[in-house]
Amino acid sequence: MKLKDKVVIITGATSGIGEACALVFGKEGAKVVITGRSKEKLEQASQSLREHEVDFLPVLADASSEADNQRMVEEALQAYGRIDILINNAGISMRALFEEVDLDVFRKVMDTNFWGTVYATKYCLPAIRKSRGSIIGISSINGFRGTPARTAYSASKYAMNGFFESLRTEVMHEGVHVMVAAPGFTASNIRNNALTAHGESQGESPRDEGKMMTATEVAEEILKATLRRKRDLVLTIQGKMAVFLNKWIPGIMDGMVFREMAKEKDSPFK
Ligand SMILES: NC(=O)c1ccc[n+]([C@@H]2O[C@H](COP(=O)([O-])OP(=O)(O)OC[C@H]3O[C@@H](n4cnc5c(N)ncnc54)[C@H](OP(=O)(O)O)[C@@H]3O)[C@@H](O)[C@H]2O)c1
Repeated sequence: MKLKDKVVIITGATSGIGEACALVFGKEGAKVVITGRSKEKLEQASQSLREHEVDFLPVLADASSEADNQRMVEEALQAYGRIDILINNAGISMRALFEEVDLDVFRKVMDTNFWGTVYATKYCLPAIRKSRGSIIGISSINGFRGTPARTAYSASKYAMNGFFESLRTEVMHEGVHVMVAAPGFTASNIRNNALTAHGESQGESPRDEGKMMTATEVAEEILKATLRRKRDLVLTIQGKMAVFLNKWIPGIMDGMVFREMAKEKDSPFK
């Protein structure tokens, strides 16, 4: 029970990596505050936590709303009196060429992934400073290497990385741990729910989800790295290679990434 009585807020914990984190952190004794926009999905996620006897608090909250983030933190403090770890996980993706994508879709991705992170971190920071705890950003390999037809998603993840690098350096002498976790391809609902050019959900994943890391494996890596207070976590061999090669041969990587992503089912470019 490495996290006994610690309080962990996980945004977007009704599916995928967030839901898995709630269970993995909860099994280590943490009290988990989970959020999501859908009452039904929050209830489903709650059911599984109940079955595993995890102490939890569900909060219906939209990550892209500043007021919801403020209320999320107030409810967490009211219920548990402290916050030790914030996992900024809520996120959505998109797939469309920049020339074709509605700017409202672009804004929605930034509002959820980037602004959601800023709001939650802003309201949690005073409590996390007190507990000398951790702030985790669930970024992506796309926060280190952009991919075509994911301009908004890549921009949101690069923005998160810059935000956290700056914040980390600001609070490094005050005992606050800031980590950027970059999962590689992970089986989840992110690609089914990814927005197309005019904001509809894509409906199905264009990749083979069976060949990816599972959300539970990713959550276990995030737990380990959080306990070790690591600065960064980059997952999958493909992900580590992409980050490394993009640092040293970015021009060659442009061609490699184009060719790789063009192979996706229904890719909007060839
Ligand atoms: N899966 C991958 O391959 C992969 C790779 C790298 C990084 N990531 C990152 O990992 C994080 C989790 O993604 P996932 O793969 O687990 O996707 P997922 O299965 O689609 O889960 C996303 C979660 O975020 C919630 N969410 C979305 N928009 C929200 C909003 N506005 N307010 C509150 N909650 C919201 C969803 O709940 P509701 O829809 O019910 O609100 C859901 O619980 C994301 O930040 C994603 O960018 C994923």
